Order: sequence, then C-alpha cells, then structure tokens
Amino acid sequence: MNTGDRQAHWENVYATKGEEEVSWFQESPALSLELIRLVGATPTSAIIDIGGGASRLADALVLRGYADVTVLDLSEAALTAARRRMGAEARRVHWIVADATAWEPTRSYDIWHDRAAFHFLTEDRDRAAYVATLRRSLRNHGHVVIGTFAPDGPEKCSGLPVARHDAATLGKELGVGFALVDTRREEHTTPWGSTQRFQFSTFRYAK
Ligand SMILES: C[S@@+](CC[C@H](N)C(=O)[O-])C[C@H]1O[C@@H](n2cnc3c(N)ncnc32)[C@H](O)[C@@H]1O
Repeated sequence: MNTGDRQAHWENVYATKGEEEVSWFQESPALSLELIRLVGATPTSAIIDIGGGASRLADALVLRGYADVTVLDLSEAALTAARRRMGAEARRVHWIVADATAWEPTRSYDIWHDRAAFHFLTEDRDRAAYVATLRRSLRNHGHVVIGTFAPDGPEKCSGLPVARHDAATLGKELGVGFALVDTRREEHTTPWGSTQRFQFSTFRYAK
C-alpha cells in the first residue's frame, strides 16, 4: 500500500467513526504509560507516539507533566479529534501529519512509542523505511516501545492485513543496536467486548 492509499483509508476511518467506535479504543493507555515510566522517562524526555491517532496517550502524558510530547499520524482527522478533546492542553503537544515510512524527522527523541501502527507494515521495504527513520531520530540510549498484535492475535485490523509479532521478530526487524529490556502480553477488550491479544516490547538503543 502506498502513502496515498494508506492516508485515504485512515482519513475515512476517522471521518466516519467516533473515538470510541474503533476496535483499538482504550479509555486509559495504562500499559503504555507504565512502559514509558519504566524506561526512566523524565518530565523533559522527548516522547513521540507514532501512529498515535486519536489515542488518549498524549492527554495522559501531558497530565503527568511530560513537557515534550509529539504525536505523529497519517490522518489529519485523527489528530484533529485528539486536539479537540484536549482543548487548550493540545497546545502542549507537537502534532505531525506524516507517514512514518516516509517522514523526515528534524529532531531527535528519547522515547519512541507505537501501539498498533507498525503491525500494518506488511511489506519488507516499508518496515525497513520505518526502522531507518527510527534509527535516525532515536537518541543514543533512547528507548522504543512497540505494541503489535501478538502471534496469536487477529490477522486483520480495520479491514487491513497485519504482520503479527513477538519480541524476537521485532528484535530482528530493528536489528543491531536494539537490546530487549521488557516484553509483555496484553489482552485488549474492544468496545464491543471481544478480546485481542497484543504484545508490547521495549528495546534500548545503543548507536
Ligand atoms: C489501530 S490505530 C492505533 C491508534 C493509536 N496508536 C491507539 O493506540 O489508539 C493505527 C493508527 O496508525 C496510523 N497509521 C497507520 N499507518 C501509519 C503510517 N504508515 N504512518 C503513520 N501513521 C500510521 C493510523 O492512522 C491509525 O491512527
């Protein structure tokens, strides 16, 4: 899928569904917050949420005093929904509309978080482009937290095929320099009560 097709897909999703009508909706991104805390995030850590969509992670990070939060997503509509919900607090967040596989970062980050965006990259060249951007923009000794559907999780999300991962396959994708520091499984309950198995892995980067 190219950037235009991807963007059209996601704009349509967010234009036609409310925040709480999508399978990935979470009232509280508790595990993401815990994993970000566990890597030693400080109030000045530069944190980016890749494919953050309309997630409430940005709200929760700002509420906890993190002062350098960025959300990147393909969908302008998703970021608009998040900004509206946050109101004046949205000014504390940097918002970027971009495709993570084509984005040219202009600064670096301490923590790269991704819940349920990387797993849409089913083609080798897209995953390689994503990892190349991650490597360029993550600081030495920074951390990456990636949550994807687990090997026994769903094969599709939002009508699109996904590549399911565990810590080992993610580690292979990231390559040399990324050391696994934490891995978790999470059973996510969708708004209509079904269960989706996720896995979250945290890696520390040494350039
Ligand atoms: C399943 S949703 C998850 C949203 C959010 N992370 C959460 O946990 O609520 C996937 C998100 O990734 C975004 N996305 C998909 N592919 C992307 C890409 N290549 N670059 C940037 N964002 C992407 C979509 O627009 C969508 O908001």
